Amino acid sequence: MKENTAINAVQLRDVSFTWTGRSPFRLDIEDFSIASGETVLLLGESGSGKSTLLSLICGVIAPEQGDIQVGGTRLADLSSGARDQFRANHIGVIFQQFNLLSYATALDNVLLALHFAPERRGRIGNPRAEALRLTDALGLPDSLVINAPASALSVGQQQRVAVARALIGAPALIVADEPTSSLDADAQASFLDLLFAQAKEANSTLLMVSHDERLGARFDRLVDLGNVAHVERGQAA
Ligand SMILES: Nc1ncnc2c1ncn2[C@@H]1O[C@H](COP(=O)(O)OP(=O)(O)OP(=O)(O)O)[C@@H](O)[C@H]1O
Ligand SMILES: [Mg+2]
Repeated sequence: MKENTAINAVQLRDVSFTWTGRSPFRLDIEDFSIASGETVLLLGESGSGKSTLLSLICGVIAPEQGDIQVGGTRLADLSSGARDQFRANHIGVIFQQFNLLSYATALDNVLLALHFAPERRGRIGNPRAEALRLTDALGLPDSLVINAPASALSVGQQQRVAVARALIGAPALIVADEPTSSLDADAQASFLDLLFAQAKEANSTLLMVSHDERLGARFDRLVDLGNVAHVERGQAA
């Protein structure tokens, strides 16, 4: 619908979040938004808070104050169960540490993304065929995907499984935390081809973290976290 185009895919206002503990870290973001369908590359030095920002957007952690909206839904309005359901349906996440189930096959890991996500499931006729299409496009042999436990895959292969899991069912928002860090240049290029093709086809919004500014040419916008966030590091208590 026309009016939906005005709703940002992601919107943060006056958000504060603190990691407490041995090395306290406080992140303040006054105003940051991503338009629907936009592709954004988030840059910033190690420890600057990129993964923390992604966790806030995914509703994995909640801010002490401020407002975070994803696709017009205010995350603070959802119970924690509803937030998990919302994430499953609307956000395809590629975590920095992949978070695969190590004893399950790659295929089952990909299909699991649909388990709690009826909206994503509803976009697919044959989940198994779609999972294999994605893993195939990412260069993973079917025999490996179907038979081997995820723990038997190389780091680069596990990363591709995590990517297929994030893409299946065309979630509105794809959030990727350094998804290309374990891939060689060729694999990196084909990964980005697939990611962008998939995002475009589904009109998904894409937020990706990388250290590698050279990837920037493919994205609508480059954001340096240092320019949108204020960070404070405390002393050990
Ligand atoms: N789970 C956690 N518990 C406590 N503190 C944390 C946790 N995760 C992050 N931090 C703190 O927040 C800071 C920012 O971490 P974050 O992981 O967001 O950075 P990053 O920009 O993603 O770094 P990298 O590029 O190395 O992945 C860290 O320096 C650390 O002090
Ligand atoms: Mg990180």
